[in-house]
Amino acid sequence: MSELKHEINREKLPKHIAIIMDGNGRWAKSKGKLRIFGHESGVKAVRDTVESCAELGVSYLTLYAFSTENWNRPALEINALMSLLVSTIASETKTLMNNNIRLQTIGDTASLPKKCRNELAEAIQKTSGNTRMTLVLALSYSSRWEITEAVKHIASKIQSGEMNTEGITEELISNHLNTAGMPDPELLIRTSGEHRISNFLLWQISYAELYFSPVLWPDFRKEHLYEAILSFQQRERRFGMTSEQVKDV
Ligand code: IPE
Ligand code: IPE
Ligand code: MG
Repeated sequence: MSELKHEINREKLPKHIAIIMDGNGRWAKSKGKLRIFGHESGVKAVRDTVESCAELGVSYLTLYAFSTENWNRPALEINALMSLLVSTIASETKTLMNNNIRLQTIGDTASLPKKCRNELAEAIQKTSGNTRMTLVLALSYSSRWEITEAVKHIASKIQSGEMNTEGITEELISNHLNTAGMPDPELLIRTSGEHRISNFLLWQISYAELYFSPVLWPDFRKEHLYEAILSFQQRERRFGMTSEQVKDV
């Protein structure tokens, strides 16, 4: 039984955790293996993270699995990642069902190979009625792409007379993003010691707490997640107010 897990205050859990799963390539390299071995080994970390978030009672978990910019990697690596995605979805759907977890995606999934699209569509459909937690995979995702799409969509509604510019509010913009209907992430974790956002959820993380872990993604385990949540719970979230104001509430 984990000590850290019991230190977590279940009343103060982040509703939505987002993770930039980074460091697979370096992990493999340190072992003298090919990068793809790092990606394959990262699946275990995904399982651990999904399981612990569901156990704790986190409502949304978003995992950055493939960015728009990742299309610039060598074709061999891209193909291997796509195959890994297909085989992982196929083998894990059962676990998602058993654990009452719903699968969703954000990103330009239309650009994924047909096999991936089909596998994803099937898993999303099968798990659509699950209610314990929503697992969101960011695939072919970048925040600038998402915001650009939202702007196009809103502009076309104005052009057609469906709405006018007065109707553009923060809420309307949020509702035109891929994450419409989801609460904003309260905790953003990035592994591998890199301190950057890499085009992930720029609008949605406006007030997220950031947590950077030096652990390479394939080594990320439940204890690391608990550490991140405990760090989140020790912080004072002021939202522009003073410390005194926040303490009064
Ligand atoms: C993260 O690990 C996985 C993806 C981006 C698909 P990397 O592949 O970026 O690993 P490093 O950063 O090169 O170590
Ligand atoms: C970000 O990781 C994207 C994912 C984790 C899927 P990268 O490894 O691609 O990010 P940069 O390019 O080093 O910033
Ligand atoms: Mg990386």
